[in-house]
Amino acid sequence: MLLQSTTNPLIDLSRKTNGTQDRAEFAKHVADGLSQHPKKLSSRYFYDAKGSKLFQQIMDLPEYYLTRAEYSLMQRHRSAMVRAFAAGGFFHLVDLGAGDALKTKLLLQELERQQKPFDYVPMDISGSAMQELSKDLQQAHPDLHVQAVVAEYITGLQWLEQHLTERKVVLFLGSNIGNFEREEGLEFISQIRRHLQPGDLFLLGVDLTKDPDIILAAYNDASGVTAAFNLNLLERINRELGGNFDLDDFKHFALYDPQLGVMKSFLVSQCEQEVYLEANQARYSFAAWEAIHTESSHKYTLPQATEMGRSAGFELVTSYLDEKGGFADMLFKAI
Ligand SMILES: C[S@@+](CC[C@H](N)C(=O)[O-])C[C@H]1O[C@@H](n2cnc3c(N)ncnc32)[C@H](O)[C@@H]1O
Repeated sequence: MLLQSTTNPLIDLSRKTNGTQDRAEFAKHVADGLSQHPKKLSSRYFYDAKGSKLFQQIMDLPEYYLTRAEYSLMQRHRSAMVRAFAAGGFFHLVDLGAGDALKTKLLLQELERQQKPFDYVPMDISGSAMQELSKDLQQAHPDLHVQAVVAEYITGLQWLEQHLTERKVVLFLGSNIGNFEREEGLEFISQIRRHLQPGDLFLLGVDLTKDPDIILAAYNDASGVTAAFNLNLLERINRELGGNFDLDDFKHFALYDPQLGVMKSFLVSQCEQEVYLEANQARYSFAAWEAIHTESSHKYTLPQATEMGRSAGFELVTSYLDEKGGFADMLFKAI
């Protein structure tokens, strides 16, 4: 039996009510990142409205195997997943970094089909993504109780602990964990654990190590959508912080290190240049071929990911794999 209610208004914890603070935070991040050697910008700023749309196009690319692998894995195992989630009765299904929840929707359908009692709490830093998802779910699942939260992961987790009292099943899908450096990934999963109770469940989507050529192509597609997604970070800085980046002077570059199991993306300055940022009233200089690191995507082996979960205070319940064995959704229980 599902809760008889529809979608609530968004809870916005992104401090958008004080837009100047939001902008100031972004401006400070860019100032810090572009003053460092080597330069870097965080991938969390990829997802403005345009970035979220571009990411949806990336998920449809022939080279971008990750979404299809996790989607087919979900189709394959959703019935068993739902039984495992619902074994303890009512629960909050919390979706961290939900985006368009493409794969979670398979779980929602299955949960409804099996008539399990739950509500759905998608969380994402992207307000536009949460608005669209709420609207979408209202039409597709009118009886489902949905509470979308616009928040940075940690803020969202704090809200979760303070406001949701029942058992929780937390999803962190799409290999989002890969965007953290290894130690940060462990620290992040430990933070998730600290906001949960023993017995709560955690489903972690992990892209497993595989043929380096397959991985490289996924982040360097032939049609250039990933390049546009990466370059949108500079466009966003121009739009929101009054920057004057000339996008033609930068190129997307991606490489995979098969020993460290990490994919890295950069924006490379193709000439010596200076960029001005109105928000900081400052200039940032680039040498010819100087690079800004914009994203890491770490790949794991199953034992590495199991160990990360264990070190964070979880025990592995089971790993659901896609048919090629290249992607895993790993179900952990908080101990
Ligand atoms: C790669 S998409 C994955 C979406 C979805 N979970 C999936 O598996 O297809 C990453 C999502 O995480 C969100 N995100 C990225 N950094 C975040 C952060 N620091 N806090 C909250 N959400 C974040 C983005 O807005 C985006 O929707």
